[in-house]
Amino acid sequence: MTVANTLSWNEELVLGDARTDHTHQEFIELLNATSAASGAEQLTAYQQLLTHTIEHFAQEERWLLACGISPDFCHFSQHASVMEVMKEVERRALGGETAYIGSMIEALVEWFPMHASSMDAGLVAYLQEKGFDTASESFINGVPEATNATAPACGHDSSHSCA
Ligand SMILES: [Fe+2]
Ligand SMILES: [Fe+2]
Repeated sequence: MTVANTLSWNEELVLGDARTDHTHQEFIELLNATSAASGAEQLTAYQQLLTHTIEHFAQEERWLLACGISPDFCHFSQHASVMEVMKEVERRALGGETAYIGSMIEALVEWFPMHASSMDAGLVAYLQEKGFDTASESFINGVPEATNATAPACGHDSSHSCA
């Protein structure tokens, strides 16, 4: 079985929030660049992907927090799990074990479309509903009064309590 190690930007990945879509397109470009690189250049490309992903996740988490979502919501923990593995792969690659980069890329190729179509899609719909503008990172009609905000849809089934 051939394992895919690249992703292509396609309609199914478009979530309808310009900033999110732009960030996701950059993610795919950096992922493909890492896949195409070899040797020392592959580690450099991977580190660029890692730096970008740190900011990508932080951006979404800032928006969740701005809406009053608790940091124990599952979207945060899924980002944290991915980030932990990505950093471990960098650590090993710096120690000479560069083969893990290829496995990480394969895992991200599988993970990203699922994450985008569930948690990130849920986040985009939620932000639009709350009137949160991602370009200015502010609420169009002022900050909603509700504290204890209900978490966005995350793709988990209803029996699973994420927040
Ligand atoms: Fe994302
Ligand atoms: Fe996300």
